[in-house]
Amino acid sequence: MKKLVTLLLALTLVLGVFAFAGCGNDDAATDSDVTDVADDAVEDATDDVADDEMTEEDSSDGGVDIGIVLPTKEEPRWVQDEARFLAAIENTNYNVEVLFSQGDSAKEKQNVETLIAKGIDVLIITPQDGDAAAAAVQAAKEEGITVISYDRLVTNTEAVDYYITFNSVNVGEAQGQYLIDQVEDGTTGNSLYLYAGAATDNNAFLFFEGAWNKLQPKIADGTFDVMNSSKAVEYKDKATLTREEMGEIIEQVTTDWKPEVALSKAQSHITSAPPTGKTYILAPNDGTARSIYDQFAKEEGVEIFITGQDAEIPSIQYVIDGKQSMTVLKDVRDLVNGAILTATEVLEGNEIKTNGEYDNGAVAVPAIDVPVITVTLDNVSDTIIGSGYYDSSEFTGL
Ligand code: BGC
Repeated sequence: MKKLVTLLLALTLVLGVFAFAGCGNDDAATDSDVTDVADDAVEDATDDVADDEMTEEDSSDGGVDIGIVLPTKEEPRWVQDEARFLAAIENTNYNVEVLFSQGDSAKEKQNVETLIAKGIDVLIITPQDGDAAAAAVQAAKEEGITVISYDRLVTNTEAVDYYITFNSVNVGEAQGQYLIDQVEDGTTGNSLYLYAGAATDNNAFLFFEGAWNKLQPKIADGTFDVMNSSKAVEYKDKATLTREEMGEIIEQVTTDWKPEVALSKAQSHITSAPPTGKTYILAPNDGTARSIYDQFAKEEGVEIFITGQDAEIPSIQYVIDGKQSMTVLKDVRDLVNGAILTATEVLEGNEIKTNGEYDNGAVAVPAIDVPVITVTLDNVSDTIIGSGYYDSSEFTGL
């Protein structure tokens, strides 16, 4: 039964990857790499099902097998991950427990300790703060637990075995490219406001790096004027920024992933550099995008082009309503399936197939990299409803 579920998960992952493969992602981990890995995973899972005919695998001993620690219940993104995890694990013999850290690294460490005490063999963790989580995962590692970093990388420790992630540089590139595509050819001096995620989250750097890859040439040639970051202006001629340089820009425009911080930053930027006419805004995710949009939309005569990511239900409604211009769909079903497949393979002693690696500052962590897709008003029906990601009844005006 367990093996059959593994096969189904592998198949779902493959189907998800195929669904994305036609969507024009071109980056370090290519679609074919991802597809090959998923293909291999299916083959392995199929072999495992055949093995099962002969030797029925041990089932759970009643303790918790897989512990999952997510950063906060305050953002729809992570509540959705929990729901998708619970759905994915429902038909397996494994016991799973999900705990939330509520934005607090101390609570996160406590959660990991609670799960260690419950006898987990695999820990899946999305760190609140990449560096701060190192101590927690080291404690797990010392108990022989396999550690899977999920979506966000735990940094500066050797105690991470695998990283299951969306391609975060691609997310930033999709956001930057979207803004560029909205600019009228040949125009210069278009106002660009930059916002970023929390500096404690490695992903914030990857998103920014991707956006900078696309936007920098257009800032350097005068297409865009950055309105709210003196550091971005200072570095406008640098195609590649060091982590420190990115950190300096992020420090000026961070939202800390909090809509309320995004709101107050937007208010102060509107006061110091009032928007007029076409206004381009790099918002790092959906929660902050809605907050920033609502502030800029109060200004007379502005036409807003604003990015996001996560395809949160309220932001899909914003896209339908013509408020938020785009979001990036990171299909959580694929990420969850990748994580659960990896966890179950670990529990069954099988080899893990990966398709990339990420340097976490201490070690190159083997990774499974999942592609992403840009969602706009033009393709929202296909990508969000047609794909079965959300039901149309969640929305009005479709
Ligand atoms: C995730 C995003 C999320 C953000 C804030 C990032 O690490 O990749 O999907 O919006 O954290 O929680």
